[in-house]
Amino acid sequence: MDSIAILDFGSQYSQLIARRVREANVYCELFPHHAARQQVMAIHPKGFILSGGPASVYEPGAPQIPPYVLESGLPVLGICYGMQALTHALGGRVAPSVEREYGAAEIEVLVDNPLLPPGRPRVWMSHGDRIEQPPPGFQPLARSENSPIAAMGDQRARRYGLQFHPEVRHTPIGEEILRAFVLEICGARPEWTPASIIEEAISRIREQVGSERVIAGVSGGVDSTVAAALVHRAVGDQLTCIFVDTGLMRYHEPQMVVETFERLLQARLIAVNASETFFEALQGVREPEAKRRIIGEKFIRIFEEQARRAGEARFLVQGTIYPDVVESSAPDRRVAARIKTHHNVGGLPEDLQFDLVEPLRYLFKDEVRKVGLALGLPESLVWRQPFPGPGLAVRCLGEVSLERVQRLRMADKIVTEELAAAGLLRGETAQAFAVLLPVRSVGVMGDQRTYAETVAVRAVSTEDFMTADWSRLPYGVLARISSRIVNEVEGVNRVVYDITSKPPATIEWE
Ligand code: XMP
Repeated sequence: MDSIAILDFGSQYSQLIARRVREANVYCELFPHHAARQQVMAIHPKGFILSGGPASVYEPGAPQIPPYVLESGLPVLGICYGMQALTHALGGRVAPSVEREYGAAEIEVLVDNPLLPPGRPRVWMSHGDRIEQPPPGFQPLARSENSPIAAMGDQRARRYGLQFHPEVRHTPIGEEILRAFVLEICGARPEWTPASIIEEAISRIREQVGSERVIAGVSGGVDSTVAAALVHRAVGDQLTCIFVDTGLMRYHEPQMVVETFERLLQARLIAVNASETFFEALQGVREPEAKRRIIGEKFIRIFEEQARRAGEARFLVQGTIYPDVVESSAPDRRVAARIKTHHNVGGLPEDLQFDLVEPLRYLFKDEVRKVGLALGLPESLVWRQPFPGPGLAVRCLGEVSLERVQRLRMADKIVTEELAAAGLLRGETAQAFAVLLPVRSVGVMGDQRTYAETVAVRAVSTEDFMTADWSRLPYGVLARISSRIVNEVEGVNRVVYDITSKPPATIEWE
């Protein structure tokens, strides 16, 4: 399959470049700029994209374009720092700018060229240095008020540079530009489609697994479900899925898991209802970290027990996706990866004696969803919101009793139903749920004074879950959620809306 190699010079937008190229149905991979030549060339790229980055080309130690990129004779597109590094490497001149140019700008396209549409399109700028003199053979393709060379190209050598960021949505023509580069200039064939992804994953899985047995932990989450469904498509009954119902799942979720795997996919499924064990272990526990630890430990013990029952398996399926892989390999993003480790509570420890099968390792979340749909999984599952491993326990502040979790589950169901009815579940709002607070307040219902608990509604919009803003939900929707919760959920007489962003708050309350 044709592919593009993206060299990452440290820009916060590097993953976006990869997503846009994939959206053009062309496979691409993101490599650190210092990756070994063999590693990059192993994907047989039809061209290179050099990302932006925080450095300045004349700084000591500034990252340079590796020689094999230019020696290959393949098309190159340098974006922002990538353009400056290209200019520097080919004998042009980069000037440190006195001021950064940041934000929307208008460019004027100067000559007819295969990369940029004619006219005066709006673009997104974010750079310090700028090109003063393009390298020999290059001609300026566009200018803006602050960048006399906002785009440049050597059409014969098929090398281009953009001072602005085509990968961000704020550059409306960006998608068109990247598409033109990969399809027209590099001549890559648009063969990366859900059907081809599935086909390739299946042959890879078969090759890896042979005739050995495989197990998969399934939780109802998108990644674990799609990963298991792919492996099942590849090796059928060699796969056993294990589902541990902790009693801490969302409304109807355990049934959905069983229906999907047993009825829809006809996969071998071991489903254990372990809710009693979990509630017993959580009795009297109020401290958030203690809850996570107890749930994590119990989960692993039960999973191991069931895995033994499933017979001798050599492989374990994991739903690792591409952003996890990229984040843990980029040195400057390690910190971010570390902050997230607590989220693996409820997952499986690394010392489990299995070889891993990771069929989603090269896929972005939106691709995982497309593959899920192409495998025939229901939309309601494919579009499920993220849900923490320890489940409702970390949204049930205070003691986690069966009664309180049921109360929370009903409130959460109402939040989801009302957002779905208002068409708000898939758009801006990335995650929305209810939290049960151990706070009782006075209310009045009919002629009766009540003294009952409080539900907090949390809804956030976010791209990456590392930062988030609270959703400006319409008052009408909030009003319906509130009145339904106090009317339909026993033991709750007050509903509040969480209006804190992350940071300083986290998305979850525990
Ligand atoms: P926070 O609360 O840290 O959450 O802002 C960020 C995202 O991670 C999810 N989350 C978890 N996911 N296991 C998971 O698999 C966990 O223990 C866990 N805790 C939080 C959270 O729902 C949000 O999407």
